[in-house]
Amino acid sequence: MKSDLYSDILATVSKSAHLDVKKTFDLVCSLLRKIPGYDWTGIYVVKGGKLVLVSYDGEKTDHDVISLGDGLCSLAIVRNDVVNEFDVRSNDKYLACFPSTRSELVVPIRFEGKAIGELDIDSDKTGAFSDRDEKFLLEVGEMISRKVQSVYGP
Ligand code: SME
Repeated sequence: MKSDLYSDILATVSKSAHLDVKKTFDLVCSLLRKIPGYDWTGIYVVKGGKLVLVSYDGEKTDHDVISLGDGLCSLAIVRNDVVNEFDVRSNDKYLACFPSTRSELVVPIRFEGKAIGELDIDSDKTGAFSDRDEKFLLEVGEMISRKVQSVYGP
């Protein structure tokens, strides 16, 4: 069941404190990609006024650096809030990475309340993400927020 998968992932991430930053990010991306509908998973960190892709699982993207202001990824940082886009084709802020993507969920990773990075999930299905996905990813973000802070640069 999907909820078991969420719990298993949270348990594994909570045991990853000993791993270095890059290994933790890679682990998180590969675990998240096991969830049905999570067709591309990535972690962006704010660095020098840009969003920098520090890890991903799935196809390679040209958008490994995004200027703050562009795309749904920036919206999540600027608003310090979740962006859950049911149909990316209906949002003119959407920055296309893969032709197959239909919905996208971007969840801020916060340190002391400030959005310093994000988990970005693309799905090939329209409306793939629920409130449960949002809460789950916020929890994952909290677990890795110290490590994200260690590579964050304003
Ligand atoms: N679609 C994102 C860009 C990143 S890719 O999905 C990997 C956006 O609109 O910001």
